[in-house]
Amino acid sequence: MNAQELRTKYIEFFKSKDHAQIQGKSLIPDNDPTVLFTTAGMHPLVPYLLGEEHPAGKRLVDYQRCIRTGDIDSVGDASHLTFFEMLGNWSLGDYFKEGAIKMSFEFLTSPQWLGIPVEKIGVTVFEGDAAVPRDDESAAVWRSLGIPPERIRYRPREDNWWGPAGATGPCGPDSEMFYDIGREPCGPDCGPGCPCGKWLEIWNDVFMQYNKVAVSADGSGGTYEPLARTCVDTGMGIERTVTILNGKTSVYDTEIFAPIIAAVERAIGESGRDYAYGGDPEQDRSVRIICDHIRSAAFILGDPKGVSPSNVGAGYVLRRLIRRAVRHGRKLGITGKVLSPAARAVVEEFRLPYPELAENQDLIIQELDREEEKFLETLHKGEQEFAKLLPGLLKDPQKRMSGRLAFKLYDTYGFPIELTEELAAEQGIGVNRAEFSQAFEEHQELSRSGSGQVFKGGLGDQGEMAVKYHTATHLLHQALRLVLGDRVAQKGSNITADRMRFDFSHDAPLSAGDLRRVEGLVNEQIRRDLPVRMAVMTLEEAKDSGAIALFGEKYESQVKVYAIGDFSKEVCGGPHVEHTGILGTFKIQKEQSSSAGIRRIRAVLE
Ligand code: ALA
Repeated sequence: MNAQELRTKYIEFFKSKDHAQIQGKSLIPDNDPTVLFTTAGMHPLVPYLLGEEHPAGKRLVDYQRCIRTGDIDSVGDASHLTFFEMLGNWSLGDYFKEGAIKMSFEFLTSPQWLGIPVEKIGVTVFEGDAAVPRDDESAAVWRSLGIPPERIRYRPREDNWWGPAGATGPCGPDSEMFYDIGREPCGPDCGPGCPCGKWLEIWNDVFMQYNKVAVSADGSGGTYEPLARTCVDTGMGIERTVTILNGKTSVYDTEIFAPIIAAVERAIGESGRDYAYGGDPEQDRSVRIICDHIRSAAFILGDPKGVSPSNVGAGYVLRRLIRRAVRHGRKLGITGKVLSPAARAVVEEFRLPYPELAENQDLIIQELDREEEKFLETLHKGEQEFAKLLPGLLKDPQKRMSGRLAFKLYDTYGFPIELTEELAAEQGIGVNRAEFSQAFEEHQELSRSGSGQVFKGGLGDQGEMAVKYHTATHLLHQALRLVLGDRVAQKGSNITADRMRFDFSHDAPLSAGDLRRVEGLVNEQIRRDLPVRMAVMTLEEAKDSGAIALFGEKYESQVKVYAIGDFSKEVCGGPHVEHTGILGTFKIQKEQSSSAGIRRIRAVLE
């Protein structure tokens, strides 16, 4: 069974159980400053798990793309990925433990659905602690379905609990489902949940049963109250499930990765190297890392909320994924491009379930090519410098590289700390990361106090052109409001040295006339050579003065307001040009849909 068949079956099964299919959401969470990416299927549903009514009803099903980078160093082994897809079904105050477990069991074992033999399945349930009792109810349901007691393991909170770790909120015990890959047990205690590799987790049923209302003083426990409305949140990993359904032991050996691996193999072959996947563990690992990272990068770049490589936030994670892939490509002896051929394979493979990938294919390829080129230059310089440092480093009996030195590589050559660490590790040398971080922070404080600039809206690149585009963004925002009405609001902006992209709320394509008017208004303000002035005030004062503040954006108590002549006024961190005359000619290249109710304009300054 391939991934598409699994997606279809899962949705079909839960529809037959009265669930409504909902759309998976962007990889970039809405209004959640605590995480950079959507990390689980439940993430976009948190408001509904907290009690909001969902317009589609009380039983929901979907597939959701997710990114987790916590285990990035393990990527390339049999099961770790930075990008994965999660199938999920939800009960919002409808069925609970018995209903959820019975449906999970039916989908897994019924010959009409996945048809996994019952003997291959083991489960874990929460063993209980001082705050919350043992989950005997779930265990009893599994027993009633024919799972024998030795394959039902009670596990502690760190394994079988989902929900807020520190703060308050809805949470509860979970019951995880594992597949026995048939290996010998690692010892007498081996059973479902054992990390030895015999038991592969494929699905998790979470029972949102409590509201954590208080945190204990030492942070280890808390006070739990039963929730008035209990919910179920489940997550089945597509890659792992496809793995076991096809009798494989590694996610990378499935059809999901086959075309991407083939693209990398071709790139190696075209570089004159003799290589076939599966023969050399170290090279195979590099290939797997490239495939995983490019899959993530393509999905991040192709996301409706599009993120570009940068030095902050999600853009930095993206940059790191891309750069790591490039470096492993070089290790494999690839001399040509490695990213875009692999990304094309990703787009081709996922165009059906994720149409936005095909829609944004050109952008994905352009960004990858550009970032690859830029990084190859950096890499070249950084590696040369590292090689010069190496003899000195090897003489150090402690085999330790100072963080200051690593920072110098970063500061002077843009050489990322992670790569310095990797290069050093290959020589058995450790890097003093704490010292690096200290140097990094000192540098940031210095440059902040020196220029008085803070980031906003992803303006990580503060080159001269990026600053010009930033000012043009304000002009465009105001021009759109004048032409289309005040309801137009900025939804995102993305600036590079070569172009700007601006997302805004509006539900219809712009007519040619509207586009001309918008473009004309912006150029008129440029011709008027308006001064750009900044003032610091409270957010209240800013709003009273008529400045636009982005909805849902978190602001400090004191904000900066940039006024462009009498034309525009916005709360913003800057930086901006001093007067508009130097912007050149503003030109809209493209206007298109970005996602439901959101339009995207791509423009350049000539
Ligand atoms: N939210 C649960 C998980 O991600 C289902 O495991």
